[in-house]
Amino acid sequence: MTCPAPALARGHFHHKSKLNLFKKSLALGVVFLAGAGFAKVEIKNLRCEYLTDPLGIDAASPRLSWIITSAQRGEKQTAYQILVARSEAQLRAGQGDLWDSGKIASDQTAQVLYAGKKLASGQRAWWTVRAWDAAGQPSESSAPAWWEMGLLAPADWHGKWIGRADLAGLAANQAPATPELRRAFTLEGKIKRARACVIGLGYFELSINGHRIGDHLLDPGYTRYDRRLLYVTHDVTPALQAGDNVIGVMLGNGWFNVSTKAAWDFDQAPWRATPRLLLELRVEMEDGRLVTISSDEQWKTSDSPITFSSIYGGENYDARLEQPGWDAPGFRDDSWQQALVLDAPKGQIVAQAMHPIRITKVIQPAALTEPEPGVFVFDAGQNLTGNAELNLSGPAGCKVTLRYGEKLDAKGRVDQSNIAVHVWRFDRNQQFQTDNYTLKGQGSERWRSRFNYNGFRYVEITGAPGRLATGNLAINFFHSDVPEAGNFETSNPLLNRIWVNGRWSYLGNLFGIPTDCPHREKNGWTGDAEVASEQGLFYQDGITVYEKWIRDLADEQRSNGALPGIAPTGGWGYGFGGPPWDSALLIVPWHLYEYYGDSAALKQNYEAGKRYVEYLTTRARGGLVNIGLKDWSPWKANTSPAVTDTGYYYRDARILAAVARLLGKEDDAKKHDALADDIRAAFNKAFFNAETGSYGTGTQTALGCALYQGLAGPENESRVVDNLVAAIARADNHLDFGYLGAQYVPNALAAHGRADVAYAMLTQTTPPGYGWQIAQGATTLWETWDGTGSQSGSLNHTFFGDVNAWMMKTIAGINPDPAAPGFKRILINPHVLGDLAFAKGSYDSVHGLIASEWTLQDGQFRLSLTIPANCAATVSLPIADPAQVREGDAPVNRAPGVAWLRAAGKRSLFTVESGAYHFSGPFSDETGSARQNMDNARP
Ligand code: BGC
Repeated sequence: MTCPAPALARGHFHHKSKLNLFKKSLALGVVFLAGAGFAKVEIKNLRCEYLTDPLGIDAASPRLSWIITSAQRGEKQTAYQILVARSEAQLRAGQGDLWDSGKIASDQTAQVLYAGKKLASGQRAWWTVRAWDAAGQPSESSAPAWWEMGLLAPADWHGKWIGRADLAGLAANQAPATPELRRAFTLEGKIKRARACVIGLGYFELSINGHRIGDHLLDPGYTRYDRRLLYVTHDVTPALQAGDNVIGVMLGNGWFNVSTKAAWDFDQAPWRATPRLLLELRVEMEDGRLVTISSDEQWKTSDSPITFSSIYGGENYDARLEQPGWDAPGFRDDSWQQALVLDAPKGQIVAQAMHPIRITKVIQPAALTEPEPGVFVFDAGQNLTGNAELNLSGPAGCKVTLRYGEKLDAKGRVDQSNIAVHVWRFDRNQQFQTDNYTLKGQGSERWRSRFNYNGFRYVEITGAPGRLATGNLAINFFHSDVPEAGNFETSNPLLNRIWVNGRWSYLGNLFGIPTDCPHREKNGWTGDAEVASEQGLFYQDGITVYEKWIRDLADEQRSNGALPGIAPTGGWGYGFGGPPWDSALLIVPWHLYEYYGDSAALKQNYEAGKRYVEYLTTRARGGLVNIGLKDWSPWKANTSPAVTDTGYYYRDARILAAVARLLGKEDDAKKHDALADDIRAAFNKAFFNAETGSYGTGTQTALGCALYQGLAGPENESRVVDNLVAAIARADNHLDFGYLGAQYVPNALAAHGRADVAYAMLTQTTPPGYGWQIAQGATTLWETWDGTGSQSGSLNHTFFGDVNAWMMKTIAGINPDPAAPGFKRILINPHVLGDLAFAKGSYDSVHGLIASEWTLQDGQFRLSLTIPANCAATVSLPIADPAQVREGDAPVNRAPGVAWLRAAGKRSLFTVESGAYHFSGPFSDETGSARQNMDNARP
């Protein structure tokens, strides 16, 4: 067996003899490592399009991924083989009749494109992977996984769009009662499998034979319905029976039929129409027949008990209108009307290949008050997003009103004034975040709204039949149910609370699109999504939602390249936010590339990104762009949008250059780099003061922008950093920026060796700051630094949350390495800041779990590290003398899988192979002295 060459010193080492000793023993370590190849790797977590065993995939060559795990250090995949078969039995017999990739010499484990036989609509593909490890030994085949194709051709849809009414005859802003639709049919023989593909607009709930199908909420995902429509596929095999069957569908208005007049004109959206359904049920019978039931005139329809349904307003439900058994056989539907065939929405039909919205937590109210007789206020104890579920009994006709809000007024009643502003300014009587439930008077009644959601902490109930107790209400937290990816904790409870608050806000703002706030607007504000994307990717495995939303945004681009501030939009908001908002089109895909190693979204949007940058060039004057909003939601200082706009213009040009290189378009790359150079020159000419080393008016945002975006010349950087530190000191170590600065400043400080200053600023408990929000009782992140004092500020915004990505990168020290994206290579760069005694972070990457946990005790720094198999890391330890670094019980130079890299300031850098490590050594305090040397470089 040959030994791989050890990675040896690239940097310089203080004592030559020590270094030689070090080199020798590291080489020994590597011998040990390569010789110990007994443990077999295991293949796990097979996913298709980032989903586990998904139904309804319409990518012709879906992306496959898996992880390899091993207890051994330095494990790698040297080759893989994928088998894809028509059936599980064939797969288990080792026959890849759809695809046998053969043995591919590659370490790739993600974004492997299916390259087998063309798959048909509805076809299931079973698959397995085996891998060869570092020693060339093959693993066992993974447990079988599968994916299933959706309806691939327009001709697969046999149905018509149907509903109960069209808008003709209705007053402009009148929302008709939402319909129920049913179709009875008979199946003869044994059922093999059945799939229902459904687009019910705005939202639908599907049931078969009286049973609700699936646990998704608010399907299908919100899109610009005249450009793109998502269909949802359900396995309905167990719900069907031989003999009589009934499909029932309830429809809600959602974003398709917004009747509430509000600031963003959705009531005038070009797609607006009454609810409608397209459905295709495909039943494969054991005897080989394919029975299809489609939406058409054979369906019958009636008003549902939902008498009002509004995404902003809430839901009214009259339980007396329920028709028991309506979605089951045996119900007499003579009085129901024949369904009307309605116009098809104009959007292209594509599969909803993303994690659905689901209830992820049910909370019992923490407290209940009765501020006025008959007014009951339930406190969830947490600001969140979702709805409340009533559990009541009372007389028929008794109407119970639930009002949702995140504040209480002086009397202790729910105060919606901060979140209803943009609805009430048109009409103070418009219903907002309010449900009305009318009891049917039959025993204990349980009910929750179906087709809307609310941002709230408090639910105020009036009209209840008698006194209420906490048991009368359960609170549902729901959002796009993307899997949890990261966790972070330290010895400082304030930081922990910031992390937790950020995650609540992030999840509460993820509804198939990333939103700004869950109540006042519910809008896909592009800038908010952009600055929240890194924290979001650390919290959750959210690529499926981001890829979908980036398509939504690209769908909105105008032919001149302009983008709207919100996506989807009905036409509102073009030329609004400017580059810090619009650049989401490039920056979010860039982060997907960094975090997943997946360049698909970048490449797909390359032309759109080019059009956008060309558009900015037409709007530039002297190389500067000044068309957008300023650093939004600032404290006191304001920064000219010319600074921040031009910063994004520059970054966009650099990203385009990088994408052009990925696409092999060297000429384009050069062109964009040249444009970026010109923008940087123009920026420095306009804003840099060579005498003082400052930018613009010297605000934290302006200085942070110049550093963070890479606009400051390297020769000036240290003076700019000093000015930034001085500006923060002048603010008594407090922040003074809006949400753009909230991303620039901490990152710029950390990248330039002053994470200590960022830490001091971020942990303040007096205004303005995160600690001040928390001192006032914040359980989510707020929109404004003054929080509850603000008239219209929301208490649930994500845009100040990049601090959590910063904490993961700077304190736990987990960073993607842009040179090997997708955490194939990881930069582990932890910082001991303030009085922190421990910190731990973990991130479940596309390659497996990365964990970094450190403690500082009695001057000893200890780091426990997990690097997933098939990955490697550069580790920077705050231990000045490498000879004093230990791994496990021995000096580091005996550690298998570890190689010395270089010293940097008071830090020692090593490269490590995959595996678990325990480093320790005397801590070297570098506060204020060292430049961080592993900046997570961006283009
Ligand atoms: C939204 C923000 C958004 C901003 C831009 C606000 O109303 O809530 O989050 O970015 O508008 O104008």
